[in-house]
Amino acid sequence: MTNDFRGNMIESIEKYLQEVVAFEASDARALEEFRIKYLGKNGIVNALFTDFKKVPGPEKREVGQALNKLKVAVNEKIDAGKEAFASEQKSVFMDLTKPGDPLPMGSRHPINLVRKRIIEIFKRIGFSLSDGPEIEDDWHNFTALNLPEFHPARDMQDTFFIQQNPDILLRTHTSSVQIRYMTENQPPIRILSPGRVYRNEAISSRSHCMFHQIEGLYIDEKVSFADLKQTLQFFTTELFGKSQIRLRPSYFPFTEPSAEVDVYWGLETETDYRITKGTGWLEIMGCGMVDPAVLENVNIDAEKYSGFAFGMGIERIALLLYQIGDIRLYFENDMRFLEQFEPGLV
Ligand code: DAH
Repeated sequence: MTNDFRGNMIESIEKYLQEVVAFEASDARALEEFRIKYLGKNGIVNALFTDFKKVPGPEKREVGQALNKLKVAVNEKIDAGKEAFASEQKSVFMDLTKPGDPLPMGSRHPINLVRKRIIEIFKRIGFSLSDGPEIEDDWHNFTALNLPEFHPARDMQDTFFIQQNPDILLRTHTSSVQIRYMTENQPPIRILSPGRVYRNEAISSRSHCMFHQIEGLYIDEKVSFADLKQTLQFFTTELFGKSQIRLRPSYFPFTEPSAEVDVYWGLETETDYRITKGTGWLEIMGCGMVDPAVLENVNIDAEKYSGFAFGMGIERIALLLYQIGDIRLYFENDMRFLEQFEPGLV
């Protein structure tokens, strides 16, 4: 290597140094370009260090010092630039006169929306809320409701047992709250009990091991079947705008007589045909006159008092209001589904 090579190197390092000193980054992007130009893998500093290896021993010191000076200058520029742009960003962030970033608004879950609507309707005719535990004992969920051990009606409501003998289980229906409330309170009683219930069932589009119900209970002197029908008619009119209902004889152990409530949905659209299977009628809940045996179980005088009860599945009502055909959608937490329910929609 010649002296010339060393001279040329010093000269070009100095030229770069001047360039670096004069550099003023206009923004963060220009600063990044500057960094890559000098410190990048194929940048100037690396190239100079490669050349530096060829400088003969005795001259290494001088060239090395110049090179280091360049590197330090580049780093100082980058650090200074970073700081400048960071504080610039900070001052933008701190500008309190600017409009805020919009926060995305959550939407209510369809089950909550429907529950709220149902409660509001019954509140207007004097029902108040009462709830009970989801983990129940055998007495409240079955026996007191006239479903003694080994009664075949228990087969329809298999559930998950937390403990056996004595049995502690996940309640299969909100009817258990009837027992809890009547044990503590004497008539007149007008309660509504919404809540989660459980069944030992395979999950499919139409059934789930967990769902929601709303229970109604009305006990007073001289409560008749006509009162029950009138109350339910008021409810379907308010909720669906449909006042034509029929009470189809059915069986529940805790009511006598018992009935399924069908609402006349009509056959105006293709969907109406589909959801009513071409009949125009839709089953929406179970109901009946509280069996005197149930009243006796909770020490209410069945000679003096009578009453009615009803129970409905919230998922099913939501299905009708929103045309949601698959029960699994309610519990999958898929944002694409949930986002469709704005508070104002129902
Ligand atoms: N508990 C019943 C079920 O889960 C629903 C029900 C039917 C509740 C009739 C009632 C009633 O209060 O009277 O299938």
